[in-house]
Amino acid sequence: MIHAEFRCADALHEFAQAYLPAAVGAGGRYNGSLGRPMYFVRGDGPRLTALNGKEYLDFNLSHGATILGYNHPVTRQAIEQALDLGIIAACETEYVARLAALVCRAVPCAEMVRFATSGMEATALAIRIARAATGRERILRFEGHFHGFHNDVMFNASGPAWPGPAPIPARPDSAGLPRSAADLVLVLPWNDLGALERAFVRHGDAIAAAICEPINYNSGCIPADREFLAALRALTERHGGVLIFDEVLSAFRTGPDCAQGYYGILPDLCAIAKGIANGAPIALVAGRRDLMRLLSPLGPVAHSGTYTDHLFGILAGLACLEELTKPGAYPPMLAVADRLYRGLNDALAHHGVPGRVQGLGIRFGLFFGIEKEVRCYRDAAARDVEMWHRFVRGCVERGVYFQSIGHAIGHHGISFAHTAADIDWALERMDDVIRGLAGGR
Ligand SMILES: Cc1ncc(COP(=O)(O)O)c(C=O)c1O
Repeated sequence: MIHAEFRCADALHEFAQAYLPAAVGAGGRYNGSLGRPMYFVRGDGPRLTALNGKEYLDFNLSHGATILGYNHPVTRQAIEQALDLGIIAACETEYVARLAALVCRAVPCAEMVRFATSGMEATALAIRIARAATGRERILRFEGHFHGFHNDVMFNASGPAWPGPAPIPARPDSAGLPRSAADLVLVLPWNDLGALERAFVRHGDAIAAAICEPINYNSGCIPADREFLAALRALTERHGGVLIFDEVLSAFRTGPDCAQGYYGILPDLCAIAKGIANGAPIALVAGRRDLMRLLSPLGPVAHSGTYTDHLFGILAGLACLEELTKPGAYPPMLAVADRLYRGLNDALAHHGVPGRVQGLGIRFGLFFGIEKEVRCYRDAAARDVEMWHRFVRGCVERGVYFQSIGHAIGHHGISFAHTAADIDWALERMDDVIRGLAGGR
């Protein structure tokens, strides 16, 4: 039931501005292309309904967390079960161990699991385990890879790309970080094998962990070169460091075995969050048994939380993972995704608008103004931002929703609820928008 005063988005926006910075509950909800947030009232399948009742086919999907689609019956049942159980939190239940077992069956590197509540908590914990295991502090990370909002990793994930040679000077992505945090990160360009090898020659024995998005969806969609990822694996191992795959976004996009299964390259630890519980809040760290056994109360690495293992997330995770691991679940979705990527690339070519779609699995990036393959953040950052904003505004007018997260490049995707017919419907509208872009509209 919408409060009568807020039937108009302008009224809600004005009200929210008085109490929420920028009228949003999280920075990522502001839509940079629209210059304000969109207000939605509900979601069903692949669609969101806005405050004024207009429906949008959604290509954001809770920043990727809604993998099965909104209001999915198995997720509803799971949350209802959690309600029936009395919303017990901070209690151990059978469901936690059952979900951990399911994760260990699906995710190749997972021998043991520790749950967390957000992706940022999971990457922070993985880094803490790595530092404890190695007795080292330095973290190797890659420009344009996003690992959450904690102090260890908030460097060079967004903003201007470094124009010079590697290594890349650590540049904080936020005010308020301790100056000393920058001394603990080493930043490299993605897919640059030479820079990687040189960095390990100089710093290899000081590196506690290398952390990466094996498919760098946060810069659109920049897959790792297989040779590069294999070298990262081999070098970390050779120098006694821990390899962390941040699969918060890449998990379950290419298949139930995540990006690590897609590449056949296993990290020591991985962080997983979005996509595992179809929008319910849950995250996890999984990996090598010896590393996971460092966690308290077994080992010296402290970690706990009142809401850790919350049954909303755990039960939704069990339900969602059962869907994702059903035989034959992925090929139809991958075909729908492919239809979208081919259709969009065809529309760009047909109307002579420079740009390209890079998609892998069920998430993708859209880069206006770029025609050659985007292989690293510097390539991606050269995109035509103004054209992107015009595209988003045109799509929103026509009932197709894309989220623009501030100055970040962002990523888009489909859910298991998107059908070929939905894609054709959206392509018709996007074609119209792209035709307008060609005509300078
Ligand atoms: C790869 C990656 N790591 C970590 C995070 C942080 O996750 P959360 O927003 O749940 O803290 C995100 C969120 O977008 C992400 O995409």
